[in-house]
Amino acid sequence: MKKKSKIAFGRLDLLRNDTLNNKNKIRIGFIGGGPNSFIGYTHRLSARFDNKFEFVAGIFSKDKKKSKSFGSSLGLADDRCYSDYKSMASAESKRNDGIQALGIMTPSGDHYKIAKAFIEKGIHIICDKPLTATVEDAVKLKKVILKNKIVFALTHNYSSYPMLREAKNIISNHKLGKINLINVEYPQGYTVGVKKKDEKATLKWRLDKKRGIIWVSSAATGGENGLKIRVYGTKGSIEWLQDDPNNLKFTELDKPMKVITRASKLVSNFSLSSSRIAAGHPEGFFEAFANIYSEFADQIHNKNKKYSFPTIDDGVAGIKFIYAAKKSSNLNSKWVKI
Ligand SMILES: NC(=O)c1ccc[n+]([C@@H]2O[C@H](COP(=O)([O-])OP(=O)(O)OC[C@H]3O[C@@H](n4cnc5c(N)ncnc54)[C@H](O)[C@@H]3O)[C@@H](O)[C@H]2O)c1
Repeated sequence: MKKKSKIAFGRLDLLRNDTLNNKNKIRIGFIGGGPNSFIGYTHRLSARFDNKFEFVAGIFSKDKKKSKSFGSSLGLADDRCYSDYKSMASAESKRNDGIQALGIMTPSGDHYKIAKAFIEKGIHIICDKPLTATVEDAVKLKKVILKNKIVFALTHNYSSYPMLREAKNIISNHKLGKINLINVEYPQGYTVGVKKKDEKATLKWRLDKKRGIIWVSSAATGGENGLKIRVYGTKGSIEWLQDDPNNLKFTELDKPMKVITRASKLVSNFSLSSSRIAAGHPEGFFEAFANIYSEFADQIHNKNKKYSFPTIDDGVAGIKFIYAAKKSSNLNSKWVKI
């Protein structure tokens, strides 16, 4: 009877959970993510998800008073609510119980200088995207990381959805054949009907007609983070939509379309071990975000193992891509080398 119910729920042993496997929790601090920030809560929640971190310090606003009162509302001790990153890096690195990792979610222009101050004290970094505001800062950041040999994770969080990892697995196993077309779209509508000057925030990216299109807009009326990824190859195709994250469409040439469901018997161990609950119970944005936190912790404990969270290289590539897209747009859509 026991065996049967286990079979019914699938390979539970592979799913993520909150056991510590005899490893200590990692002491983490955060910079950014104050009272009205969009992403601060997501970072703090993601760090709690799998029980791998202990949140002990932070700065939550450039305004000292706001930062302290928000830190204390999150349950931090008064002496661990700092007001500037340099004194936080210095004080934390001197404590026996100081932070071992830092999450950064300030606007991107500050990422390099904040990260550098902590990396030079040997503190591991998990940082939000875009990595930096300039290519120069991105390249400098990579150098500091390599020199100080710390673990660096970038929260390109969509990449950690279990069914996108399944898509990656299908593509890496050459099940789509030679890739002919990649189509990514991300319509948002938050600039529509705001102020004229906000329309500048609208980006439209266009890639090679034959190889792919990335279309991103914040002026797509009614758009609500409608991320959709389609990849077409000579032997098949995949399609995934953030609104329906637990399902991946997979079509092999001349065969009917399959819908592969998260944590079902068909998925790879790579995808399954990025899930926390058995098939049929939906998972979403927070769980995918938390996958990066969880693997970041595992990487700190197991320096030599290879994990799949996005790294500094993905961040540098992303910034180079953004600048190349902007340059191309200024050149009337001419090709630009990255
Ligand atoms: N991964 C995602 O899905 C995602 C989503 C939204 C935003 N982001 C990224 O997260 C970062 C922050 O975005 P947001 O929307 O939360 O920004 P926001 O402007 O809403 O909030 C920024 C927060 O950081 C605080 N802050 C700013 N500078 C600070 C400093 N020097 N020290 C301490 N606190 C400081 C502000 O008081 C505020 O609370 C950006 O890099 C953004 O691109 C990522």
